[in-house]
Amino acid sequence: MKIVLVAAIGENNIIGRDGQLPWRLKSDLRHFRTLTLDKPVIMGRKTFQSIGKALDRRTNIVITRDANFAAPGAVTAPSFAAALDLARQDAAARGADEIMIIGGSDVFAAALPLADRLEITHVHASPAGDVKFPPIDPKVWREVSRSENNAGPQDDAGFAVVTYIRC
Ligand SMILES: NC(=O)c1ccc[n+]([C@@H]2O[C@H](COP(=O)([O-])OP(=O)(O)OC[C@H]3O[C@@H](n4cnc5c(N)ncnc54)[C@H](OP(=O)(O)O)[C@@H]3O)[C@@H](O)[C@H]2O)c1
Repeated sequence: MKIVLVAAIGENNIIGRDGQLPWRLKSDLRHFRTLTLDKPVIMGRKTFQSIGKALDRRTNIVITRDANFAAPGAVTAPSFAAALDLARQDAAARGADEIMIIGGSDVFAAALPLADRLEITHVHASPAGDVKFPPIDPKVWREVSRSENNAGPQDDAGFAVVTYIRC
């Protein structure tokens, strides 16, 4: 079962601001949907709340220390390890071969040492923000594909979609 991190990152490593994304990138949201559809997605409670609802056609696994937290369409886990257990069971039941980790910062940091692949949208902007992606160490991660995209009509910036695997 592969563990895959999916993130959109500014040139300054920023991924969020005030509980939201720091940019509008409609094209990347479509790409995110394609990558994650029909798979389990693991996220922190704040990321779930920033999305505002469960993502369709995906098992939404939300990590929270709040035993009372509940949301329609989501299952909760008290730790990253517990979320991973749930995701493995779910992926096996679905016939999926990947578990998608979709943020935020602590969840990315916990998952990075275990990850097989990174699907990173490098946004060509350096917005202000309060949440960062952990450093991608070039001694550990090797770029294997890159596609450059100009900003579409509903995008704040151009971006490169890059896949990394372990060196
Ligand atoms: N650009 C991107 O690709 C991207 C992706 C995802 C998110 N974001 C942005 O990032 C921000 C949200 O991320 P964030 O880092 O602030 O928060 P987050 O990781 O989404 O959520 C943090 C919460 O998750 C729970 N949690 C995380 N790790 C845990 C652990 N090991 N054990 C138990 N609970 C754990 C805790 O919930 P409780 O407090 O309920 O206990 C914690 O307060 C938003 O601005 C969002 O838009 C951007």
